[in-house]
Amino acid sequence: MDTLKAIVTRRSIRKFRQKSVAPEALRTIIEAGMYAPSARNEQPWHFIVISERGILDEIMHAHPYASMLAQAPVAILVCGDTNLEKSPGYWSIDCAAATQNMLLAAHDMGIGSVWLGVHPRQGRKDALGKICGLPHHVEPFSLVALGYPDETKEKPDRWREERIHTDRWNEPSGRIV
Ligand SMILES: Cc1cc2nc3c(=O)[nH]c(=O)nc-3n(C[C@H](O)[C@H](O)[C@H](O)COP(=O)(O)O)c2cc1C
Repeated sequence: MDTLKAIVTRRSIRKFRQKSVAPEALRTIIEAGMYAPSARNEQPWHFIVISERGILDEIMHAHPYASMLAQAPVAILVCGDTNLEKSPGYWSIDCAAATQNMLLAAHDMGIGSVWLGVHPRQGRKDALGKICGLPHHVEPFSLVALGYPDETKEKPDRWREERIHTDRWNEPSGRIV
């Protein structure tokens, strides 16, 4: 799929068919995450692929907005390793870039996904850290629920002319340059 088309047609998918996601597809999704830009190219990420039903259910009960995990065949926990940081404070931004790449890669392959926020909510981080047995230097950042879509969504209109300013903060003029 064309990159721009993937960016504008990707939607959060929260209803999934009972079809597993092949390991090769998961590998491609993780690889897309690993190709994200990162501060000083620090690549501080780890990816925990979770398909064990008991663990998905446990996470669903620990996270307030994760009911779709009841249907999702797999989820990937994106984590940042603070021991790998070269520029302190950037690990979460790097992990965000990796997460977005993963959503787009999944969409490109016809796989639905939704980003579940973990960082910076301490309660969710503690719960995920405990459930997945993370060491202290590994911070859970986001959980990407994945599966073949059982819903379709239209492309919303998100163009906001009033958010574009020319050269400096000024009244939006409706022009780019
Ligand atoms: C940081 C972040 C946290 C999010 N957390 C959740 C979540 O916990 N549960 C959920 O169902 N969706 C979550 N989402 C998905 C958003 O609700 C979704 O991206 C937004 O409504 C826009 O819809 P779209 O992804 O279809 O464009 C999160 C998205 C981001 C970027």
